[in-house]
Amino acid sequence: MFIGIDLGTSGVKLVLLNKTGEIIKTVTKNYDLIIPQSSWAEQDPNEWFEMSLAGLKELIKGYENKIDSLSFSGQMHGLVILDKNDKVLRNAILWNDQRTFKEVDYLNNEIGIDFLQEQTGNIALTGLTAPKILWVKNNESDIFKKISKIMLPKDYLAYRLTGVFATDVSDVSGTLYFDVKNKRYSAEMLKILGINLQQLPKVYESSDIIGSLTEKIKNHLAIQKNVSVVIGGGDQAVGALGVGVVKSGESSISLGTSGVVFVASDSFKVDNISYFQSYCHSNGQYHLMSVMLNAGGALKWWSEQVFNNYNYDEFFNNISDIDPSNDLFFLPYLSGERAPINDPYAQGVFLGLSLSHRKEHLDRAVIEGITFALKDSLELIRDLGVNISSVRITGGGAKSQVWAQMIADILDVEVYTMKAEEGPAFGAAILAMVGAGVYKNVQNACENLIKINKRFQQNEKNVKIYSEKYLKFGIIYPNVKEIFKI
Ligand code: XUL
Repeated sequence: MFIGIDLGTSGVKLVLLNKTGEIIKTVTKNYDLIIPQSSWAEQDPNEWFEMSLAGLKELIKGYENKIDSLSFSGQMHGLVILDKNDKVLRNAILWNDQRTFKEVDYLNNEIGIDFLQEQTGNIALTGLTAPKILWVKNNESDIFKKISKIMLPKDYLAYRLTGVFATDVSDVSGTLYFDVKNKRYSAEMLKILGINLQQLPKVYESSDIIGSLTEKIKNHLAIQKNVSVVIGGGDQAVGALGVGVVKSGESSISLGTSGVVFVASDSFKVDNISYFQSYCHSNGQYHLMSVMLNAGGALKWWSEQVFNNYNYDEFFNNISDIDPSNDLFFLPYLSGERAPINDPYAQGVFLGLSLSHRKEHLDRAVIEGITFALKDSLELIRDLGVNISSVRITGGGAKSQVWAQMIADILDVEVYTMKAEEGPAFGAAILAMVGAGVYKNVQNACENLIKINKRFQQNEKNVKIYSEKYLKFGIIYPNVKEIFKI
């Protein structure tokens, strides 16, 4: 049997799969964010380990001696630092922590975007690991001097379970000190950060076995046989793998709080127009990813803050009767925006209101606006020469058939929803199976294990209406963006 562990931001989710890839059991253990100041976000790596171990014990109860291998998916970019005795030096600084704006400014403007892209394929964002290292260096120099090991969240878990100091290409791509194209650390970036290779883990492909559970862990879990540990990857790459996005051009949209457009690619692509995140995939290849900050988050805001909590089924039911060919628009930039406009000043907008509009028209405009913003990213990825004909949707937003159909019509793609909804944890279990040799590679495993639930074909009439409406949507932001800065 095989285990996938998704070390997330709100908790750790564990799944147990049998040899045919069926989900036998799932366990979730939640933990909290530590917010020392507004816009900071931390967690204690020791708590990740304790919760994961407790989760593992519960998950394998009754199956203790049937486990072959396990693997991980992890929240990306978080900085975990240990001293020479392997003691955690400070709480991990997480992907959604915004404290590093000065360091980001230094990296993008003094070191320079061109140099960063040449070294890593990417530019600095507040969430990434390199600016966090600079922040510790600039603000906690005593701690910085004691750093013996630097690792990412799921790598800490792997280290505690195996004693092996390792990472994988997909997760380490999000550090900004990894040369994504050539899959090796960037010596120049290490110099800029004041760190060295000895402090960094060895880099593996995501489906590689790095070692086995230690005797101590096995005793604790009452396991007698050897359990191989496969390193796994970052949650976006492993989540995409969990819905079968592995072949070049295959893509997914994850509709959580944020909206992530993810496209698999067999070659490395650097995007020097919109600066999409250009990372290694967990299948040996590459991917591009565009993260918009408020997708489900904008809908949640609309529902909770403006309408005192919607029933989402009712909401989507109501908007399905509204004719799309009206001229009401919504821009979903409720907390600035990462991709593709990269504008921290951007704000939400309704445009085109008239006396004829009812509440349902505004409801529909909110969903259309989020979807048009997703189309912005998809079109820019298409402009890089990636041919996208279908999209697999995942996350909370994928539960609505009305939204799925709208995505098909606005993005002009076929949309699929998937059978297994365990996302990154399922992807991690697939990596555990591949590492253990059940399948010869990730592609082969996905072909066998991932099943499409429902297909949504484009409605040609709506595609035409939306392509005209999208042209108007595109004119709004450039014409209002200066107002946001006043
Ligand atoms: C990716 C990113 C998030 C975290 C969340 O760039 O910031 O997906 O990995 O877990």
